[in-house]
Amino acid sequence: MTSETNWPFIKYGDNTEIVRTKGAYLETPKGSQILDAAGGAIVANIGHGRARVAKAVAKATLNCTFVVPPWITPQRQELVERLQSDWLPEELSRIHLTCGGSEAVETAMKIALQYQCAKGEEQRCNIIGRTLSYHGTTLATTAVGGHTLRKAGLAHALEVYPRVQTPYPLRCPLGPHHPDATQYYLDEFSECIDRLGANTVAAYLAEPIIGSSGGAIVPPDGYWQGIREICDNHGILLLLDEVMTGFGRTGKNFGYQHWPITPDILVSGKGLAGGYAPIAGVFSSDHIANAIGDANLNVMFHTYAAHPAACAAAVEVLDILKEENLVDRARDMGKLLNTRLNDAFSNHPHIAEVRGKGLLQAIEIVQNRDSLEPFPADRNIANRVVKEAMRRKVFFYGGGNGDVRDIVCMGPPFIITEKEIDTMVSVLLDSVDAVCGK
Ligand SMILES: Cc1ncc(COP(=O)(O)O)c(C=O)c1O
Repeated sequence: MTSETNWPFIKYGDNTEIVRTKGAYLETPKGSQILDAAGGAIVANIGHGRARVAKAVAKATLNCTFVVPPWITPQRQELVERLQSDWLPEELSRIHLTCGGSEAVETAMKIALQYQCAKGEEQRCNIIGRTLSYHGTTLATTAVGGHTLRKAGLAHALEVYPRVQTPYPLRCPLGPHHPDATQYYLDEFSECIDRLGANTVAAYLAEPIIGSSGGAIVPPDGYWQGIREICDNHGILLLLDEVMTGFGRTGKNFGYQHWPITPDILVSGKGLAGGYAPIAGVFSSDHIANAIGDANLNVMFHTYAAHPAACAAAVEVLDILKEENLVDRARDMGKLLNTRLNDAFSNHPHIAEVRGKGLLQAIEIVQNRDSLEPFPADRNIANRVVKEAMRRKVFFYGGGNGDVRDIVCMGPPFIITEKEIDTMVSVLLDSVDAVCGK
């Protein structure tokens, strides 16, 4: 392969070469088996290499190679039916499909703006984002997100979005896991709305549980109920980005279901087709879609959106998740992983916290566990830990946004076994010790 010069566009890391993927493993050209503790990019929820999905993709390609996205095909129809019957809450029955998460989040932002415009509220053009977040790689999703590293070379030209702090219990300004943390973050949200003027705000965009930018950060109790209430009081749409957390990753169909709320617009991607095809979805209500349609506005599609082969892959992946009870398994194996991580790291001098829900878990590495002071950025700790683990044949996902750093994320396929979880944890411990010392 010409990887040294031509791929990727900018050389990144060690140019690892993988020739085959199967179950929870990645195989190198020399036949080495690497345990995929990151599920690729926290995507491969059902595991790699299922023949049944490949067959469905081949059949769809043969029967319906390409049909413009708004038309109906059997694969699209089947996916829509499956989503409605098995996955989406009744309130979010309208479906828009895209090729990936960034497009889906950006479409959701557009839908929020178009909805407010359709209601005659064009002045509602603010979308509030958060300090620590990732929503994608388009200009708008980069701008609204809070991923400092991924804004490098762009920040000067990005539109400025209003922003509130991401609830981060460990590093709450009131103190770690402070009992008033929820109120603190809710007050800040209300103040932001007041400052902007409530009638200028179209939507609040957030991940219910932070993905790799912060490393599986779960907000404090009551946060989401409080946010829902504030949004409702001000006519602000709640737009939840579940590109990473959706379709079972956190042990429920969607991450927001850990709390008694429903978003106005839900976005999900990665796990929808589990890495077998590029597809993501934007899910919303009849009420929002009808308002946009009644105002003679439309939501434009991408050429490859709702591609028949991708829809066919998604149907099989969703069926496998149900037939094999994999969402419950993500919950149970996630608990086990969290317990084992805590057993290994709860007294470790360089681990500030083990956190997460279901099979989205992370550790935060610090120089000083008591003061939570991080290692200097140029020590490049998380990347070195990931590299050490790769030498030991386990692939973890480095996280952080540049300001928050030295996060190692875990998002293995839901088929992961107890023995593989033990391997993950012992390799992670050895790798942290090798880089940071004990
Ligand atoms: C929460 C979240 N939103 C959006 C995206 C962007 O999705 P994609 O890379 O499919 O464009 C990601 C990708 O990691 C993500 O984790």
